[in-house]
Amino acid sequence: MDLFDKLKELRQNGLDEIKKASDEKKLNEVRVELVGKKSELTNILHSMKEVAPEQRREVGQKVNEIRDLFNSHLNAAKDEILAKVIAKKMEEERIDVTLPGRKGHLGSKHPINIILDDLENFFIGMGYKVVQGPEVETDHYVFEMMNLPKDHPARDMQATFYIDDENLLRSQTSGDQARVLEKHDFSKGPLKMVGPGKVYRRDDDDATHSHQFMQMEGLVIDKNITMSDLKGTLELIAKHVFGQDREIRLRPSYFPFTEPSVEMDVSCFKCNGKGCAICKYTGWIEVLGAGMVHPNVLENAGVDSNVYGGFAFGLGLDRFAILKYGVTDIRDFYTNDVRFLEQFRKEED
Ligand code: PHE
Repeated sequence: MDLFDKLKELRQNGLDEIKKASDEKKLNEVRVELVGKKSELTNILHSMKEVAPEQRREVGQKVNEIRDLFNSHLNAAKDEILAKVIAKKMEEERIDVTLPGRKGHLGSKHPINIILDDLENFFIGMGYKVVQGPEVETDHYVFEMMNLPKDHPARDMQATFYIDDENLLRSQTSGDQARVLEKHDFSKGPLKMVGPGKVYRRDDDDATHSHQFMQMEGLVIDKNITMSDLKGTLELIAKHVFGQDREIRLRPSYFPFTEPSVEMDVSCFKCNGKGCAICKYTGWIEVLGAGMVHPNVLENAGVDSNVYGGFAFGLGLDRFAILKYGVTDIRDFYTNDVRFLEQFRKEED
């Protein structure tokens, strides 16, 4: 075969092979075969001496031309293969940005904490400090210091979980009064504090009673504090939490650590005072106990009861929440059903 025909055939076959190469690996093989050191084209160049001298120039040119052509086709094929690889990868790893995202679950504040935070701010705004006593308390602070010696019959008012003779799960936050009174330096000013916290009682759980619940203790001691200061404060609390329209009433009551003592009731949210199962057919729900601090409580803590006096109150945060939100079962606060808890999310905004 004439060398030029051979070159023509080489050219055509080479271009066909490049076209057929479907992936990068094959294309590299074709590249080695067509333009590599051991390729036909290189062989021809190496055996130029066998070519007639007058043809050498033309053969050389042709060989170079074909090599250039191969190289440009090889490069184009490589680009095409790479583009396909990228396109395929893009397709496979494609992200559908229109898919709705997965929503993270946002927690919400517990209704009792909503009321607690609100009340703390309310009291701080009136110059009270917030203190917190221990839940595992001593008989000394919860009872003895609060004018309830060991054999006092009023201890039965609060069935207490005892851990041993001295330690107990506090049945009231009133122990906080004694703890703060003991330490307060009256030369620096009056004492105004609230003490929120969890308390425990050996109570049978029902819609309005729970063996654990939240109280907030309040104590104000200074010179010349009167019962009308107490009454004014209780009215402010009630209006702040329940609004103007709900009725409140104060009843005379008994607590060993206050004299005189009162209890505050709020008209029932369910029946509006007519009487129903929630309010035990009384029309009222008791939300707080209060009174003028008993001189013994002051003296026990080393405070001169002839100079200083004041008032104390203990409010039930659960009862507040029941009345404010119309919750019909106190146990809902402690069973942590998110469907119940999420209803209060708006309150946080
Ligand atoms: N500690 C009382 C109770 O738990 C409430 C109270 C506190 C009453 C302070 C008077 C003064 O029932």
